[in-house]
Amino acid sequence: METQETVVITGAASGIGRGGALYFAERGVAVVLLDRDPAGEAVAVEIRGQGGDAVFVSCDVSDETSVRDAFATAVPPHTRLTGVWSNAGVAHYQSLEDTSLTMWNGILATNLTGAFLVTRAALPFLSRGSSILFTGSISSMRGSENFAAYCASKGGLMMFAKALALELAPRGIRVNVIAPGAVDTPMQHADMMARPVPYAEAVAAELSAHPLGRYASPQEVAESAYFLMSRASSFTTGATLLVDGGYSA
Ligand SMILES: NC(=O)c1ccc[n+]([C@@H]2O[C@H](COP(=O)([O-])OP(=O)(O)OC[C@H]3O[C@@H](n4cnc5c(N)ncnc54)[C@H](O)[C@@H]3O)[C@@H](O)[C@H]2O)c1
Repeated sequence: METQETVVITGAASGIGRGGALYFAERGVAVVLLDRDPAGEAVAVEIRGQGGDAVFVSCDVSDETSVRDAFATAVPPHTRLTGVWSNAGVAHYQSLEDTSLTMWNGILATNLTGAFLVTRAALPFLSRGSSILFTGSISSMRGSENFAAYCASKGGLMMFAKALALELAPRGIRVNVIAPGAVDTPMQHADMMARPVPYAEAVAAELSAHPLGRYASPQEVAESAYFLMSRASSFTTGATLLVDGGYSA
């Protein structure tokens, strides 16, 4: 990517989004960090402390008004965005019997509807050469037991990206998905804690499902995200890039 470019990243207060914000900023990209967690401000401060350009705006991506207000605050009317990365997500390890409608709706609202709301809000600022990225998951393509709502949301995200890639191709705007396996983040650790076996056993099983035998770091996901949002991938749209340590090989 060239300098002076601007990318909006959601879920930037933690994990993959935080890692992505730091990585993009190190490469001279101005980053707009959106998250419902005020800890996003500390990430913006950290980036600015390193000489980068970052602004944090509080935003619940599942709330239409909150998304609209965040864009109104963070993105001045004539801004041209290089891209938008819808990354905010939630996961719950839960059997279907124990999944309440509130929980189901909450997962879909953040992981899928959130991407819709953020993308729609970003569209006026995107032009030929811009890029939209969604954080999917290996769960975009493969089922996992006790993860039905999460898998439904991440599978839906992949089809949303494919449909949107066709819709926006005439405008020269690309839409892609990054699909990580297990990444070393608070979400991953919470997921392992929720398993019905001791934490160490859950982690060992998770790592053994990944042929590379370890977690990805947030930076490794950020590197692939950066590729998908840069001109280096200028003929790639509607694609899902697995960053899964061989999980689905
Ligand atoms: N960690 C993994 O192993 C893994 C694997 C595959 C995909 N993913 C996906 O990567 C993305 C980032 O996950 P992570 O592991 O960094 O998790 P994380 O919990 O560390 O970070 C997620 C961030 O999203 C924010 N967020 C959640 N709901 C939000 C909402 N409604 N509005 C605004 N912000 C909201 C949280 O506050 C948090 O800062 C998610 O979409 C997740 O599904 C993670």
